[in-house]
Amino acid sequence: MDKRAIAALIDAHPPRTALDRAFYTDADIYERDISEIYLKSWLYAGHGSEIPAVGDWFLFELAGESVIIIRSSEDKIHALLNVCRHRGSKICLENRGRDRKLICRYHAWAYDLDGRLRGAAHMGEDFDKSGISLKNIHTEVLEGMIYVNFADQPAPFKPVRDALTECLRPYRLDAARVAHRQTYPINANWKLSVENYTECYHCVPSHPEYSRGHSLAKPEARSAKLMQEVMSRALTCGLSDKAVNRIYLDSEGFGADYAYERYPLWRGHITGSEDGQPVAPLMGDIKDYDGGTTDFQVGPVCFALAYCDYVVIYRFTPVSLHKSECDISWLVNGDAVEGEDFDKDRLVWLWDVTTAADKRIIEYNAEGVSSRYYEPGPLSEMEDYTWKYLSWYLQTIRP
Ligand code: FES
Ligand SMILES: [Fe+2]
Repeated sequence: MDKRAIAALIDAHPPRTALDRAFYTDADIYERDISEIYLKSWLYAGHGSEIPAVGDWFLFELAGESVIIIRSSEDKIHALLNVCRHRGSKICLENRGRDRKLICRYHAWAYDLDGRLRGAAHMGEDFDKSGISLKNIHTEVLEGMIYVNFADQPAPFKPVRDALTECLRPYRLDAARVAHRQTYPINANWKLSVENYTECYHCVPSHPEYSRGHSLAKPEARSAKLMQEVMSRALTCGLSDKAVNRIYLDSEGFGADYAYERYPLWRGHITGSEDGQPVAPLMGDIKDYDGGTTDFQVGPVCFALAYCDYVVIYRFTPVSLHKSECDISWLVNGDAVEGEDFDKDRLVWLWDVTTAADKRIIEYNAEGVSSRYYEPGPLSEMEDYTWKYLSWYLQTIRP
């Protein structure tokens, strides 16, 4: 679809309506999704505890790009494009590793941990390797969480840091560790995966396990009294009762969205688990369970839920036009010992069962929207946030 046709389709889009079939099936629109959104936004790459030693690295891959997230010194993390500066071979081939130098297997060019070319044989006497380095992309670490951005001049990360540091501090995520990380492949365009995350209209029909404990599934049943009770307890438990929301607003700096909001769980539930009871030790400086949970977001496609005893971080990325991935990290206190302080199966149960259901409904959605007879329908009042995301999306990719 050429640029004019894409712009016309966007201009004709009725408000508060699902996206047209072309947004899920057209290869040119997909290319714009990548260039206008994914290559310009802050994206969660992983957590500092996953690369504790100098030389530790892991790969972050999306839409045909591969980035080496590597610790080059005790306090410095780099994000290096995994493309050799000689003839372009991929350098790191496994998902993770530990190296003193990064050596390309093709002709053995060797790079320092910060990406600088260190050795290249048979290049002649005049060869100056000093100006050659693996391409670095921008990296920011927020409370131990590593965010990267492909843009040459990304939106400043400072407003995100300024807004979220204080709210997140009680969790001491900088001292947390990843107890489990899993990637769920989803046979659907990435937007269907994100759309699904942005609404809880589907929670009651699709997530009985989640809906048992989370009031977001039935906001109309949530009383002001319960809200007040939890918010005042939040403060005595050492948590922030602040709410911030700068989401899908380009004027604030593209792709540097952020939000933080705490809300009640249903009575009898103090965390997100099978029975609503704790699955790990209290995180960081939190003193007690307040009966609530937090949603927070950094960038347009990375979301998180922070319970008093664990935090789950979600990232949605495209693989190709019809494939996406949902990557989930479960974080607990850095000193929590598996088998003693927490049982991994109990810890991951809720968000694993919920994500398995999400994968199913998203894939059925993908099959439906690829039908020649699919016609976009109206959104519900429980899809306000989805519409905010969709209208931002349409504006962003409009040629
Ligand atoms: S392509 Fe890497 S050394 Fe030649
Ligand atoms: Fe869901």
